[in-house]
Amino acid sequence: MSNAPASGPVVHDYFAPCTLGLEGVVAEELAALRADNIEQRRGGVAFRGVARLGMVANLWLRSAVRVQQLVLDVPVRMKEELYGSVTEVEWERWLDVDGTLAIDASVRDSAITHSGFAALTAKDAIVDRFRKKFGRRPNVDVADPRLPIKLTLLKDRLRLYVNLSGESLHKRGWRPIQVKSPLNEAIAAGLLLASGWDRRSPLVDPMCGSGTFVIEAACMAADRAPGLLRRFAFERFPDFDTRTWAILKADAVQRAKLALPFALVGADRHPGAIEIAKRSARAAQVEGLVSFTHQALDQFVPPMPPPFTVVTNPPWGVRLGEGDELRDSWDALGRFLHQHAQGCHAYVLSGDSELPRLLGLRASRKFPLMDGPIECRFLRYDVFDAGGAPPRA
Ligand SMILES: C[S@@+](CC[C@H](N)C(=O)[O-])C[C@H]1O[C@@H](n2cnc3c(N)ncnc32)[C@H](O)[C@@H]1O
Repeated sequence: MSNAPASGPVVHDYFAPCTLGLEGVVAEELAALRADNIEQRRGGVAFRGVARLGMVANLWLRSAVRVQQLVLDVPVRMKEELYGSVTEVEWERWLDVDGTLAIDASVRDSAITHSGFAALTAKDAIVDRFRKKFGRRPNVDVADPRLPIKLTLLKDRLRLYVNLSGESLHKRGWRPIQVKSPLNEAIAAGLLLASGWDRRSPLVDPMCGSGTFVIEAACMAADRAPGLLRRFAFERFPDFDTRTWAILKADAVQRAKLALPFALVGADRHPGAIEIAKRSARAAQVEGLVSFTHQALDQFVPPMPPPFTVVTNPPWGVRLGEGDELRDSWDALGRFLHQHAQGCHAYVLSGDSELPRLLGLRASRKFPLMDGPIECRFLRYDVFDAGGAPPRA
């Protein structure tokens, strides 16, 4: 929550939820942003810092899905306790009486058992506080609330967070249309960070689909803030610090490199996907840093010699392809790696435990994570034939 140190600005507690498995990556990102008291929890990372850090985290975190500010943390067993403690919070800081709110609640292992009931009670407490003070009350708007609130009630401990981000941070603002089976941008960025790719050397995704890995890689290599193209919930709060935000954004624009001395390349056999990848790269303002080519794996020859890093997300059947077609894709990837990626590290995301065998390589590392409800592995392969030189570590 908020603590006022003896001197200096007020410090807040934050929580950044993320995909299960990426907690360590988010924690490293937060350490680089100089957050304090970083603590990994299941499905997210708690941290502490001044209000400016909340903005910085929204602008720069690549692998988290939201940034939330803790505004209430109390033990609660009865409805009256929940109502009473929520009324005490100074909601006017984040919401005008004519504004709107929505509460997303999750409840587990508590005397109050229904999330809907907890959300309704908290909502009543908030609007009653406004009614008492102003004679009017804010409304609920689930689709586009001015103040999105996250409520968790776990083992009778109530935590209320102001969702500073609004829409999920994976929505960077550059994907032109919803595409079939894209990789979530925050997961793609998290995996690139987990891979240890150095951001200073070439990278290839030979089954790039709509280009998520390549575009996220370009943003990382160019030091381009992932939040530059979108809006955040905190920008509509009454206490929004416009001046600090303008400085942070101007600094981010200045940091973004406009050229890179190495190639970031995507290829795919699907012409529509390549078209979308190109449009997305343009929208993400990294068009000049990437190239996309319409080619099937058996024809595709990377435009530079090895070593480069391969990062890819082949089809594994949940949403795309079936049976033989799937196996053909993995066979083709195996051939590509053996023929064109000698001396390289390859990172392959799979939600299937059998298909990776078709690559004919042994994974040297397995990084587990969830893609929605699906258990996945991000597999690392060190590609070299017997007699060939092992890839540089
Ligand atoms: C799961 S999708 C990749 C999604 C991608 N990561 C994205 O962000 O949109 C798998 C991709 O593999 C491509 N693919 C499958 N077999 C291929 C092959 N033999 N040659 C080239 N591309 C192939 C499909 O066209 C599809 O776009």
